[in-house]
Amino acid sequence: MNEKSSLRIAILGSGKGSNAQAIMDAVAAGRLNARVVCVLSDVPDAFILERARRQSIPAEFVSAAPFKTKLDGEGEQRYLEALRRHEAQVVVLAGFMRIIKGGLLAAYANRIINIHPALLPAFPGTESWKQALDYGAKVAGCTVHFVDAGTDTGPIILQKVVPVLDDDSAASLHARIQEQEHIAFPEALQLIAAGKIRVEGRRVRTS
Ligand code: GRF
Repeated sequence: MNEKSSLRIAILGSGKGSNAQAIMDAVAAGRLNARVVCVLSDVPDAFILERARRQSIPAEFVSAAPFKTKLDGEGEQRYLEALRRHEAQVVVLAGFMRIIKGGLLAAYANRIINIHPALLPAFPGTESWKQALDYGAKVAGCTVHFVDAGTDTGPIILQKVVPVLDDDSAASLHARIQEQEHIAFPEALQLIAAGKIRVEGRRVRTS
């Protein structure tokens, strides 16, 4: 796929950006026929912005104020403006620590994708790997899914499973899950870029 026809991806994140890095690496390696058109963060000094700059990808701090945990109102408008300015076709949430509300969901229906560090619907919310460990689950993993109005509830694109080992700490389990995230996210995005995804209600079919 050439630059003109490749999928235009915007990445939103609040933290260290290892998933954003995996996506940028997949694009550079030709495993993902897409172009990362911008990286936006609600945290001015988030490392995800630095990672983008290193690859000469437009990186912007976009204030999500006035809210602290959701993207709504004026903050949402600022994000919509940036996404339109960069002509983003798909919005990828890579550790973006805010709940997405109606305006953005309507503008990008079935075009916002999130990664969650658990096998949904088990363990939604925060520190899911720790939830899995504390629960005594024998397997854990990650889920790439479309974002809907709920929290971690949208249709599932793909999942990767890892074992929970007897001597796992929260940190070692999280690291094992993140390794799989870095494979799963580019893989899911490539399915979308290749037009291989069909959403039928809750079911996501791949062809
Ligand atoms: C990932 O573990 C992802 O599952 C969750 O946020 C974390 C982001 O990590 N949604 P990173 O910033 O991509 O390293």
